[in-house]
Amino acid sequence: MPMTHPIGVFDSGVGGLSVLQEIRRALPGEDLLYVADSGHAPYGDKSRQFIEDRSLAISEFLVSKNAKAIVVACNTATGAAITTLRAKFSVPIIAMEPAVKPAVANTRSGIIAVLATSRTLASDNFVQLFARYGAEVEIVGQACPGLVEQVEAGDLSGYKTKSLLEHYVQPLLERNADIIVLGCTHYPFLAPLIQEIAGPTVAVIDSALAVARELRRRLEEECLLADEHSAGAECFWTSGTLKSAQPLFSQLWKVEVGVCVLPKSRPVRSV
Ligand code: DGL
Repeated sequence: MPMTHPIGVFDSGVGGLSVLQEIRRALPGEDLLYVADSGHAPYGDKSRQFIEDRSLAISEFLVSKNAKAIVVACNTATGAAITTLRAKFSVPIIAMEPAVKPAVANTRSGIIAVLATSRTLASDNFVQLFARYGAEVEIVGQACPGLVEQVEAGDLSGYKTKSLLEHYVQPLLERNADIIVLGCTHYPFLAPLIQEIAGPTVAVIDSALAVARELRRRLEEECLLADEHSAGAECFWTSGTLKSAQPLFSQLWKVEVGVCVLPKSRPVRSV
């Protein structure tokens, strides 16, 4: 596999761009392919089978574009599909894991909160995290229906987004949580507002940097790291409408970008 080949990254929507930002910082020479499955977002209220089928179809698309590694920049897809993806594809597949480990190491109150989709909180991966660390500290999982939709709509600070966040974060503060883990890749785009609501004594953390570092480590291990002397490029696809994707990607990526329509895939398995 040539090291000049690109890295594929996908999410249920634009949330994974928060991970892509860290990947770009950590790996300046890599070409990056990003697929937002915005036409099917949110994944949080879909069946496990549906999410697995979409993850397979998108990964197949990325491999058809010569991806040398795939980053599942979606906690919900990680929980639903990571085992199947790793069994099916031979390229390295990097997954999300909510940043519970550093939160457990740094909490002073002994109470940490995890904001995620209900599907992530119910996943085997999260149940295992809970079992590993739940004896050391209190871990409060908070499902946040509606937040992914707000980010998909580009509303990062409006009235409805703020009210939803207050509704989810206030009870965590009342329980004395001093670290809030963002266990969904859409939520880092809401981090400034979450921090404002939580106040300065609460740390708001996510795992994008850890994932970018793990990706770099895996590429080095497999001798797949691209030459860093020339800057890599990004290509973006969406399964949603271009009319909304174009301004949204540019807003979140902070430069004007072009977005392509994701070709319709043949169903990998009937749903
Ligand atoms: N960004 C996805 C995640 O990390 C959001 C899931 C959804 O679409 O519900 O879980």
